[in-house]
Amino acid sequence: MSGRPVTLVTGASAGLGVEFARLCAARGDELVLVARRREPMEALAAQIGKAHVFAADLVVPGAAAKLIGDIESLGFEIETLINNAGFGLSGRFEALPLDRQTQMIDLNVRVLTELCRLVLPRMQARRRGFLLNVASTAAFQPGPNMAVYYASKAYVLSLTEALHEEAKGTGVHVTALCPGPTATEFFDVAGAADGKLAKLAVQPRAVAEAGLAGVARNKAIVVPGRMNKVTSQAPRFLPRGVMRRIVAAIKA
Ligand SMILES: NC(=O)c1ccc[n+]([C@@H]2O[C@H](COP(=O)([O-])OP(=O)(O)OC[C@H]3O[C@@H](n4cnc5c(N)ncnc54)[C@H](OP(=O)(O)O)[C@@H]3O)[C@@H](O)[C@H]2O)c1
Repeated sequence: MSGRPVTLVTGASAGLGVEFARLCAARGDELVLVARRREPMEALAAQIGKAHVFAADLVVPGAAAKLIGDIESLGFEIETLINNAGFGLSGRFEALPLDRQTQMIDLNVRVLTELCRLVLPRMQARRRGFLLNVASTAAFQPGPNMAVYYASKAYVLSLTEALHEEAKGTGVHVTALCPGPTATEFFDVAGAADGKLAKLAVQPRAVAEAGLAGVARNKAIVVPGRMNKVTSQAPRFLPRGVMRRIVAAIKA
């Protein structure tokens, strides 16, 4: 039994998720939008059309499985999954609230993993699917003052590269998108709106475009922007201790 193909965008109430949704709608995709805030998604759906809104806190245990079950019970098949929901926290490890840090690991790592695990078997059975996981340039080195966030994105990149390799020959494309600083709500949520990285932020549209182009071509890793391409290669050439001190000096 096959359902109507849809594109699922997590974190579709703000930032990159909105751009992914707009771009996918413009190419004709039917969409499922997920985030906690319903109103911005309803407004977006009204603009782009052919979009279904699910307001959900994905960190709640079982939320990812419920979401996929609800989507499938409506007769949809997830052809494209954009695992975009995520957040960061800026500050020293021991100073940040532990519950917020574990929520970050839950969203950035656990929920992303659950969604991959839930959708991949059906994509492989249909021999067609597009999985785009949003990592970060933070994935390439440790991040003093954003330690858990950087570690969570290193996990996303590692997982996605492994899944990309495993997916070869299955007809499913798997790609990690590694944006650098991007002008979204990210830095406000992270408590880093006045930091150096926020000042370097680029507009999210081109970042989302690069991600969609990359997964269409089944690239393993997409790093949008020339400077980000250079900085993401730096850990290959610099000693780890030097990289750690550079990131510590930036203090997101
Ligand atoms: N902006 C950057 O500089 C940057 C750089 C590299 C990577 N990234 C990554 O890009 C992705 C998108 O972030 P963004 O920059 O677009 O930030 P954003 O503007 O803050 O958007 C984050 C999205 O995630 C959703 N979200 C947060 N907690 C959630 C939860 N518990 N359940 C469901 N949805 C939740 C938010 O919606 P609600 O608040 O309505 O739930 C929002 O739609 C993230 O994975 C981030 O780590 C961002």
